[in-house]
Amino acid sequence: MTFLFNSDAERGAIFAKAFSRELPDIPFATDPAAVDPEAVRYLITWTVPEDLSRYSNLEILFSIGAGVDQFRIDAVPPHVQVVRMVEDGIIRMMQEYVTLAVLALHRNLPAYLERQRDENWQAIAPVQAAERRVGVLGLGMLGTAVLDRLMPFGFPLSGWSRSPHEIEGVKCLNGRNGLDALLGSTDILICLLPLTDETRGLLNAQLFARLPAGAALVHVGRGPQLDHQALLQALDSGHLSGAVIDVTDPEPLPAGHSFWRHPKILLTPHIASVTQPETAAKAVIENIKRHRSGLEPFGLVDRGRGY
Ligand code: NDP
Ligand code: OXD
Repeated sequence: MTFLFNSDAERGAIFAKAFSRELPDIPFATDPAAVDPEAVRYLITWTVPEDLSRYSNLEILFSIGAGVDQFRIDAVPPHVQVVRMVEDGIIRMMQEYVTLAVLALHRNLPAYLERQRDENWQAIAPVQAAERRVGVLGLGMLGTAVLDRLMPFGFPLSGWSRSPHEIEGVKCLNGRNGLDALLGSTDILICLLPLTDETRGLLNAQLFARLPAGAALVHVGRGPQLDHQALLQALDSGHLSGAVIDVTDPEPLPAGHSFWRHPKILLTPHIASVTQPETAAKAVIENIKRHRSGLEPFGLVDRGRGY
C-alpha cells in the first residue's frame, strides 16, 4: 500500500519525513514512473493525472489544496474518496489575507495609493468599523475562520451558505432570499465559495447592482465566479468603490488586461492562501489513520454538491 505524492519536491521532502515518522509501514513515493501503480492506495495531487485508471486500487484521492474544482471529479471512479485539504496553515493564511483586504478597503487604501501617486495630501472622511458591514459568501472552513478573525474589529458581520448555519455574532443567511438580504446590507463583500455549477458567474452585474452604492469586493474564491466586465463597469460607474482580487479567469491574468492597472483594484496572483507542508502532512496522515480505522476522513468531498 503506497502513498504517491504528486507535487513539488520541496513539499514532498517534508511530507516524506512526516510519513516515515508517523506511518513507517506505508511506502512513500514521489515518482509516478517508478511506482507499481497497483500498490498505490493514496494519491495527493493538484490536478487529476490523465492516467488515473492505472491506479486500480486507489482508495483516497487527496487534493493538495482546499479547492477541488480543478479535479474532473466525474472521471474519478465512484469508489475512490475525494478529500480536500483541511489544514491549519491554509486557514491562517486566508485569515491574514482577508483581514488585510478588508482593512485596506475599509481604510480607503486604493484611493490613497492613487492620491500618493498624484502627490495629493487630502483626507477621505473616515467611516467607523461599526458602520462598515462585512458579508461573507461561504460559511465553510475558510469563511467561518475569516469571520472569526474579523470579529474583534467591530464590523457588523453576516454570512451566506447553502444550508442554515449558526455563528455567534454573525447574521447567518442561506438560500436565494438570504443572498438578497445579505447583499442589501453589505459594504464589503468577500467571496469564499467553492467553484460549482451554481457559483460559476455568481459575481455578475445583477449581484453588484444589489449591493449598496460604494460597496467593495474581496474575491478569493475562484476566477470563473467573477464576471470581469461586470466588475469593471461597476467600478467605473462608481457603484462599487474598490476590489481586492486574488483569483481570475484565466490565470495568469493576460498582459494588458484592465485589472492590472485599474486604480480601484488591488490584484494578487492567487496567493491568498497556500498549503503549508508541515501542517498539511499532519492533516493527511491523520486522515489516513482515520481511514484505516474505518472513520470518514476530514474534508471528504460530497460528489453530488461538488465541494
Ligand atoms: P468549504 O467546502 O469548507 O465551504 C464552502 C462553503 O460554501 C459552505 O459554507 C457552503 O455551504 C457554501 N456554498 C457552496 N455552494 C454554495 C451555494 N451554491 N450557495 C451558497 N453557499 C454555498 O470550503 P472552504 O471554506 O475550505 O474553501 C472555499 C473555497 O475557497 C475553495 O473551494 C477555494 O475555491 C477557495 N480557496 C481559495 C484560495 C486562494 O488562495 N485564493 C485558497 C484556498 C481556497 P454549506 O455550509 O451550506 O455547505
Ligand atoms: C486552494 C488554493 O484551493 O490554493 O488551496 O486555491
